[in-house]
Amino acid sequence: LKWCPNSDLQAQRRLARTTFATKAQAINKTLHAAPTSVESFSSIQDERRERAERSVLISCPPKINERKILDYLSKHGDIRNYFFYQTYGMYAVVEFSSKESIAALKGSCTIPSVQHEASVPFKSRLLSLKWTGSIGPTTVKCHEQLPISINELIQQLSEQESIDQQMQCLTEAYQLTEENISLRFLVCSLLRDIAAAYFPESIIRPFGSTVNSFGKLGCDLDMFLDLDGVSVQNQRKGSGLSLEYQVKRGASERNVTQSILSVIGECVDQFSPGCVGVQKILNARVPLVRFSHQPSGFQCDLTANNRVAMKSTELLYVYGSLDARVRYLVFTVRCWARVHGITSGIPGAWITNFSLTVLVLFFLQQRTPAVLPTLDQLRDLAEKLLQEFFEFYGSFAFNRSSINIRKGREQNKPEAAALYIQNPFETSLNVSKNVNATQLERFVALCRESAWLLQQGEVLKRSATPSADQIPPWGLAALLLPSVAESAGVKGRRKKKREPASERIKTLLQSLKSSRGGAGEKQSSD
Ligand code: CTP
Ligand code: MG
Repeated sequence: LKWCPNSDLQAQRRLARTTFATKAQAINKTLHAAPTSVESFSSIQDERRERAERSVLISCPPKINERKILDYLSKHGDIRNYFFYQTYGMYAVVEFSSKESIAALKGSCTIPSVQHEASVPFKSRLLSLKWTGSIGPTTVKCHEQLPISINELIQQLSEQESIDQQMQCLTEAYQLTEENISLRFLVCSLLRDIAAAYFPESIIRPFGSTVNSFGKLGCDLDMFLDLDGVSVQNQRKGSGLSLEYQVKRGASERNVTQSILSVIGECVDQFSPGCVGVQKILNARVPLVRFSHQPSGFQCDLTANNRVAMKSTELLYVYGSLDARVRYLVFTVRCWARVHGITSGIPGAWITNFSLTVLVLFFLQQRTPAVLPTLDQLRDLAEKLLQEFFEFYGSFAFNRSSINIRKGREQNKPEAAALYIQNPFETSLNVSKNVNATQLERFVALCRESAWLLQQGEVLKRSATPSADQIPPWGLAALLLPSVAESAGVKGRRKKKREPASERIKTLLQSLKSSRGGAGEKQSSD
């Protein structure tokens, strides 16, 4: 009755554990096998979707006996997987072996009778378990759906032996779990039941960080209503006669998308249990319905007709599966950016996680391609990627150059924007149009500071603390402490005067000084 770990995640974790020698072979293999990964992306999603269709989400009483619940539910059919988690209350995700069991289960459910109010008689797969008998021993293991705190993370990172291990540890602590991904697919499937009332052939697909392998626990759930199945053509030749549907027409595709989303949004608001705070944001470049799904705790964005986003999701997934270090670097840079307020949970002029991911990918494309690195080179590379990433963007000519991962090179900016990252599929669009000059400057300044920190030998050393005392933050953990440059007046972590170890550091310090004026002076004389 355990969730079987998904094959691609398993593969990624296996890859992460292999020695450098096998890693080199694996990288070489996957680089040449990219088309297979592309193919498996959609089959993995199809399988997850199919499992979600055989699942129910059940709100449970706070004190429950796992065995009793399972015995009760298995009367309706064989249970293949299940898990419990806690958000606003205790919930169980239960996957049956066949869809018929869902019908049988629903057949035994009742619509609650409510006093002074009335209920919408919509039979969803979000159920409540009522318990009137004796409770018995409470035996439930809950799966965590949120990431560990930053302080806990810093502590865990400090216990690692190398920056390479720290980056891997951070990724493992933050990445979506199998259970969390299943819950995300189940929420998509529950919403699809609403959309199917109008469009029985529709599918609601998750995209973005839920499925691109860069998702962090707690990230939003991006979904799109896929209506492509509705317009599949039935080619019948012969009699010369054919029938077609009479359809309503809209002024444009955007118009049609807006009216569909408006109606579905209304149904989600009025009929769908658990969905609260529904907002229709139909005038955005990509029209969407935003709401919060309370039983799962997910912030949801539902779009329609958004195939391009699915393409870029798949592209990111492929990049992430080429080499485990891609995901380590992306998770690390995203975390570093989040703790320093370069990215934010609220929309605005900040750099988004998606833009940041493209910046990392572009940086990795800019590195001289390795023919086949030696063991030593591979080990050094793992440690150096982070430092070089910060150096790369600390000195990138953002004022004149744009980022283009389609071509893998920088190009002149086609229009004035603080940060210009070309959308790889809609090439006339700037992915980071929202970013203003101040936010970009903060990003560059922090990159320079972090590069500088990593160049200082001291930060790279883990202090050998034989006692049970907490190990002082070092390496990546040190980079996640509040920035000295950003918090003027705060006593910095770099108290001792340090001599630049090389010309490169001198240049960086120089650029820090010139770009920050007083702040730069302060740093070098601290
Ligand atoms: N997207 C895009 N162009 C943009 C913004 C977003 O193509 N300017 C697409 C990308 O495929 C992205 C997805 O929409 O992955 C979802 O956007 P968003 O939620 O902002 O990013 P995520 O990658 O999901 O990252 P996060 O974990 O921050 O949600
Ligand atoms: Mg997202």
